Parts: sequence; structure tokens; C-alpha cells
Amino acid sequence: MLVSAKEMLQKAKAGKYAVGQFNINNLEWTKAILLTAQEMNSPVILGVSEGAGKYMTGYKTVVGMVNGMLEELKITVPVALHLDHGSYEGCLKCIEAGFSSIMFDGSHYPIEENVAKTSELVKICNEKGMSLEAEVGSIGGEEDGVVGAGECADPQECKAIADLGVTMLAAGIGNIHGKYPENWKGLSFDTLAAVQELTGEMPLVLHGGTGIPEDMIKKAISLGVAKINVNTECQLSFAAATREYIEAGKDLQGKGFDPRKLLAPGFEAIKATVREKIALFGSENKA
Ligand code: 13P
Repeated sequence: MLVSAKEMLQKAKAGKYAVGQFNINNLEWTKAILLTAQEMNSPVILGVSEGAGKYMTGYKTVVGMVNGMLEELKITVPVALHLDHGSYEGCLKCIEAGFSSIMFDGSHYPIEENVAKTSELVKICNEKGMSLEAEVGSIGGEEDGVVGAGECADPQECKAIADLGVTMLAAGIGNIHGKYPENWKGLSFDTLAAVQELTGEMPLVLHGGTGIPEDMIKKAISLGVAKINVNTECQLSFAAATREYIEAGKDLQGKGFDPRKLLAPGFEAIKATVREKIALFGSENKA
């Protein structure tokens, strides 16, 4: 059964580790992430962007697929199904469809409107026992058409949003979705420390997990980050493994064109990436 992300993240914050959110795109992604989390006895969050939800034909399909896999793969570790960077309307749709967690990305609204909309969603999520992630300060880079400049959040605004009763808070600290540019200045730990100081026990979320050096990940966890989002890195591993298979001409040998064979190396590559991240984030054996 899907669970809210609340308990797993409160435990992570207290235990100084982070739970990975891995974004899904299709059956292979979902199966690879669930099996790896189970093998490592780790809690996990499946992230679904609005674009990915649309690609998979809609949120109900996603909920059906994930619930089916939890049962048929006998997954016993805590799993949350989470809308990533949701619009207000998208959040309502996912609540209706049976997600267990949502992110409302109100970072592009003036703070008053972000507060008003977030408050509405806090009320609904509390009634339903769902977790809610809010965002302050836009995360840089481009993700599914949402473009941000990589700002650093205002710690006072973070406190205002945290005090509304959200479950977890994403604060921009110079992080960017996708690959980091050569001239990236790194994470702003001063901002992170100031946010943590004002928000106390609130689990903080680090977006743009792809390509952040290990020492920065560890330092971010030590400063209160309890959830780390990874998307691009699984896409890159999947694409590289698939390319290698085709370039080696394996799709032309025997039944190598069978999708169950063609997609197998990419599937294994996603598993390897997720395994590496779970080990780095410290959530192994924390289910
Ligand atoms: P990356 O694609 O950079 O890993 O970021 C993922 C993310 O933050 C999803 O919200």
C-alpha cells in the first residue's frame, strides 16, 4: 500500500540521512526503482512530473500501475507516489487519482498567492493523510517546460511556508535540474543553514540531485536535507546502456529486437544508479 512521505522523512531528518525521490516515466523505470528499494530495504519516493503523468496517459494509469506492482512484486518497504512540481490543478487531480503525496510548486507566484494556495492544499492533504511538499525560490534549469534560474530562497519566506503545516519544504539553494554547467558555483550552504535554523524539524528537499558531488550531498544532509530528487541521472544511464546495446548490434542478433531484451540493459542501468544513490543518501536498511 502506498504511504504518505511524512513518517519516512521525519525519520530521515532525525537519523541524518535522506530518502531518494526517483522520477518515473514508464513500467521499466517504476519496476527498476521499486525492486532496488526492496533489495536495499530502503524507503523510496516515486516522483511523477505533470509531463510524465501525461506521457503515461494520466494519473489514474500511474496509480493503477504502481499499486499493481506493489502487490505483485511483493514490495514491503515504504513507498510514496508523489506528484513532482505540481500546478494547483494537477495537485487536485492527483489527490483524486490516489497519489499518496504531492508537491505544489507555487514558487513562481508572489509569496502571498503561494501562501494562499499552499494553505488550501495543507487542509486537503491533512484530511486525506497525504504529504505535501512546498517550494520557495525556484530551482534552476529546465524540467518539463518549467524553467527556473537557480535562485536562493529567502529564509523568512521559507519559514512562512513551513509554518502553514506542509510536510516537507524545497528551498532553492543554487541547485539546478539537469546537468550542472561548468561554471556552477555549487550549493549555497549558508542559505541552507539559514533555512534550517528558521524551519527547525521540517524535512528539507534538495531538487536537482543529478551531478551534485558526493561531499556536497553529505553536507546538505548534515544541514537538514531529508529528501533528494533524482531524475536526469537515471535517464542518462538508461540512454547510455541502450546506446551500447544497439551500437554493439545486439538488436540484430537472434531475437535481440524483442523489447524485453532491448530494454533490459537500460533497466539494469537504472537499477545501478538507484542503488548508488540509496547508498550515498544513507537510506539503506532504513525501511
Ligand atoms: P535532476 O533531473 O537534476 O536529477 O532533478 C530532479 C528533480 O529535482 C525532480 O524534481
